[in-house]
Amino acid sequence: MVIRIALVLCLFLLPGLAAGCGKRVVDLEQVSPEEKIVIKFSHVVAENTPKGLAAQRFADLVRERTRGRVEVQVFPNSTLYKDGEELQALQNGSVQIIAPATSKLAGLFPQWQVFDLPYAFPDEDAVHRAMDGYIGNKLSEILRQSNIQALAFWDNGFKQITNSKRPVIHPGDFNGLTFRVMINSQVLKRQFEKMGAIPVEKPFNDLYRVLELREVDGQENTMSNICSKNLFKVQPYLTVSNHGYMGYMVMTNARFWSALPEDIRAVLEGTLLEVTGWEREQALKMNRENMEKAVSSGQVQVHWLTENEKEEWARVLEPIYGEFREIIGGDLIDAVEELNRQRRERNDI
Ligand code: LMR
Repeated sequence: MVIRIALVLCLFLLPGLAAGCGKRVVDLEQVSPEEKIVIKFSHVVAENTPKGLAAQRFADLVRERTRGRVEVQVFPNSTLYKDGEELQALQNGSVQIIAPATSKLAGLFPQWQVFDLPYAFPDEDAVHRAMDGYIGNKLSEILRQSNIQALAFWDNGFKQITNSKRPVIHPGDFNGLTFRVMINSQVLKRQFEKMGAIPVEKPFNDLYRVLELREVDGQENTMSNICSKNLFKVQPYLTVSNHGYMGYMVMTNARFWSALPEDIRAVLEGTLLEVTGWEREQALKMNRENMEKAVSSGQVQVHWLTENEKEEWARVLEPIYGEFREIIGGDLIDAVEELNRQRRERNDI
């Protein structure tokens, strides 16, 4: 770790002295095609989202800090791979970094659905504690067994409900409506079934179209996705429910990563750490700003769930914890509950 930090410092802060660290900093103009390392970073959201901006910031900083030796090519909006294709492309080496919502990992790694459990995390801090502790370690280890290396955990935020049919306030209001859910997560499907709705799996790149054509009545998402994809323009009812969390696992092909020169890997990891802090701030800020934008647009009728209404939803959804205990793993579910217990103690609530 100490050696890694020293290398990062040499490369970031003291380029002129880098030779003294025994590492050569390559000049942009002098990078030969053989020396150049290209990293394709594919994701499915728009550029003006927390993930989209952070991916581009990472690319820009890496280019500057490696003086052109590493080129991170960012492919937003599913232009390279869409939902359902990304993970395989990473495993077979067609792409080097992806950052899917954790829910989408559930097809291969059902344990990751722990993040989909309704009302499991009261705020971002609770999610970060989970990722930094037992839950994050165990889930990262599960990925490693499939040649995937977890690099960073990026936030998006808490999900809200939108639909084109009617205000959704009480669980009964979901009855008979169809809701798009992210691919692969059985927990998310079950969540809508419990409310009496019909879940429909769709990749993100199809979402606007199916809502606009009213093939599907509603969906759940963060405000940054709702606004950056203009979903609020075709979904006149918005329920601010914060019923579930959506975050991203930034991940790479482990064989690719370990084959990188050590100094380059140190720059990439140091930069990613720095960008992760920035991304999390952007996520908070953009979700707040996008909420204001949707509300002030006059195009949506907004309902903020009261504490009592949230409790109504939570009561209906609570059995999901038991139903998925074996699939997700009792240890992970217990760890979430333990984190919440510690939080209550800390806050004395
Ligand atoms: C979705 O499919 O709704 C989101 O996971 C998209 C994303 O990556 O934020």
